[in-house]
Amino acid sequence: MIIGIPKEIKIQENRVSLTPAGADALIRAGHTVLVEKGAGIGSGFSDELYSQLGAKVIEDAASIWERSDMILKVKEPLPSEYKYFREDLIIFTFLHLANEPELTKSLAESKTIALAYETVQLPSGVLPILTPMSEIAGRMAVQQGSIYLEKIHGGKGKLIDGVPGVPPAHIVVVGGGIVGTSAIRRAVGLGARVTVLDINIDRLRYLSEVFMSKVETLYSNNYNIIQTVRTADLVIGAVLIPGAKTTKIITEDMVKAMEPGSVIVDVTIDQGGCIETIKRPTTHENPVFVKHGVIHYAVANIPSVVPQTSTLALTNITLPYVLQIANMGWKDALIANPVLAKSANIVDGKVTYKAVADAFDMEYTNIEDILKI
Ligand SMILES: NC(=O)c1ccc[n+]([C@@H]2O[C@H](COP(=O)([O-])OP(=O)(O)OC[C@H]3O[C@@H](n4cnc5c(N)ncnc54)[C@H](O)[C@@H]3O)[C@@H](O)[C@H]2O)c1
Repeated sequence: MIIGIPKEIKIQENRVSLTPAGADALIRAGHTVLVEKGAGIGSGFSDELYSQLGAKVIEDAASIWERSDMILKVKEPLPSEYKYFREDLIIFTFLHLANEPELTKSLAESKTIALAYETVQLPSGVLPILTPMSEIAGRMAVQQGSIYLEKIHGGKGKLIDGVPGVPPAHIVVVGGGIVGTSAIRRAVGLGARVTVLDINIDRLRYLSEVFMSKVETLYSNNYNIIQTVRTADLVIGAVLIPGAKTTKIITEDMVKAMEPGSVIVDVTIDQGGCIETIKRPTTHENPVFVKHGVIHYAVANIPSVVPQTSTLALTNITLPYVLQIANMGWKDALIANPVLAKSANIVDGKVTYKAVADAFDMEYTNIEDILKI
């Protein structure tokens, strides 16, 4: 198979969809890898490195799209790339189609095989390709929050771990899943006072066992959120209600009650956000705004600022699926691997992922009917 790696064109997207190690694995398996010139630079991989391993470095994006059987990307295709869609092309990338009506229409009309990273799903319900990005976002939430707590960045001017005789900062994590746990790990490591709220008692039990007395666990309800958020120095929004838009569980009144110079990092903004005072995502160029004296950070693609970590974390998890598709062809790969079959969002012009069909009132076709299994 010919596998194409175009350069990401979304603003501030420094990741690349295949590392040199991944290119090496595909070439050793007998495939051809085309890499757009400069595609790996943001992640620290030179064109020379790819070519030394046998990949072909191509000057322009158009040739990559036209010559490839499968395009690997990180972010969803942007409108300038829709012209490359065609019937015999496979695209494997983050798609988030439920938020992308034009992209969905374009993929369906062109009959492109659209496989989404974010819907690959293990029998346990875990979304394995999303997990490493959540792990990075959780750690980064504490890192960014600590920076904005500094006085020169508009914060209270509080050191996360305090010093002997002076208490540490209080970090409140709302939602103790992958993002939340990762944030807690970083916060505990830095020496903060940490409180986590979740509605899943088993999750709180797990966190309590893992972090022992270093973390205070609290059942998440309106009363407990009011009490903890009011005195927090840094609040991290990390909830997820699978398949649904996040609800605004931290209200404007709760934000008003916080001390000036406190910080909120809403990691959930990519799903609509859980903070009432945050109406839309911020960007890496302009990451924060102040409302009611509180600094709000709401960047929707947090992992893209640490591409040398996030590219490796992403491709470690995507490569086995990529190899399976390349070795077997998309259809046989999806028949052989039900976990990968969940990636099918649009096939043969039909919407094969229920949440996407529901989002746009489109007809849903079960992928099993197309695969005839
Ligand atoms: N901004 C970014 O760059 C970025 C990166 C990765 C993930 N995310 C987002 O972070 C969010 C969390 O992802 P995750 O992987 O940790 O999900 P997860 O499913 O692992 O964890 C979510 C947790 O929220 C809990 N929860 C649900 N409702 C709650 C409530 N009312 N109060 C308290 N807890 C509640 C759940 O019980 C669960 O433990 C998602 O919205 C995801 O899209 C954003």
